[in-house]
Amino acid sequence: MSKVTVVGAGNVGATCANVLAVNEVANQVVLIDIKEGLAEGKAMDIMQTAQLMGFDTVVTGVTNDYSKTADSDVVVITSGLPRKPGMTREELIGVNAGIVKSVAGNVLKYSPNAILVIVSNPMDPMAYLTLKSLGLPRNRVIGMGGALDSSRFKYFLSQALNCNANEVEGLVIGGHGDTTMIPLTRLATYKGIPVTQLLPAEKLEEVAQSTMVGGATLTKLLGTSAWMAPGAATSFLVESIIKDQKKMIVCAASLEGEYGMNDIMIGVPVIIGKNGIEKIVELELNAEEKAKLAASEAAVRKTNGILTELGVL
Ligand code: 2OP
Repeated sequence: MSKVTVVGAGNVGATCANVLAVNEVANQVVLIDIKEGLAEGKAMDIMQTAQLMGFDTVVTGVTNDYSKTADSDVVVITSGLPRKPGMTREELIGVNAGIVKSVAGNVLKYSPNAILVIVSNPMDPMAYLTLKSLGLPRNRVIGMGGALDSSRFKYFLSQALNCNANEVEGLVIGGHGDTTMIPLTRLATYKGIPVTQLLPAEKLEEVAQSTMVGGATLTKLLGTSAWMAPGAATSFLVESIIKDQKKMIVCAASLEGEYGMNDIMIGVPVIIGKNGIEKIVELELNAEEKAKLAASEAAVRKTNGILTELGVL
């Protein structure tokens, strides 16, 4: 029996629960929200697709009753406000930090051994806040951003190459922010062929830029932040934990000397299995990539600093 709780039944949380169910990632999915009836409604809507889609996962919804989330193997936290057009993810910190901290505390009371996947923005500082305020070992707190950013990178690469997105490989490391993420074009491939051999440098720069503002572009189009790819990327990550798949996924991980960093959570490739973060993969970066990662680190640290100013850490 496997059980996953998704906190927050908004667009991202509900989509994540839906993908978890359709892909039968877990036997049981609990959706919880503070808004009366919202999680119950979304769960019922999902369950009414079970016989159409042919899945056996049971999704239930609950308003604010954390006892129903007890003994979850994985808990996904999507709580808080999404960004509006023109906003950065970092601007959400004042509202979301308190929410995420209190949710994480409630979750842990009923699922003391759960692995926590943080989705709320600004994602890297929210993951860091969760890790620090709960005092958990680093394998148990994972920030989702890199899985999403890497998927967007592969999409934009496939558009530029006019090819099947499933045949493209690519990683986006660094912070989950419009200016902090680093699409690693040098290491991206199409069927094992470096994309640097297939696309001119200007086109690759365009792909990298589109990836970096991928979330902002959708926020502008939709009037609120995206949910399909964020929900699916979260389910993808959870599946690697529940099924112990040992996939290499870019996630915000707490670094203890890797990449020359300490006391920070930032996006790096990680092997994800039943214990959460099982191994941090250290890529050999060139001087330009190292400089970008150092700038990204500085930006994430600056936002982390606000947590202390807000008195949540
Ligand atoms: C995104 O990039 C919401 O941060 C999320 O769409």
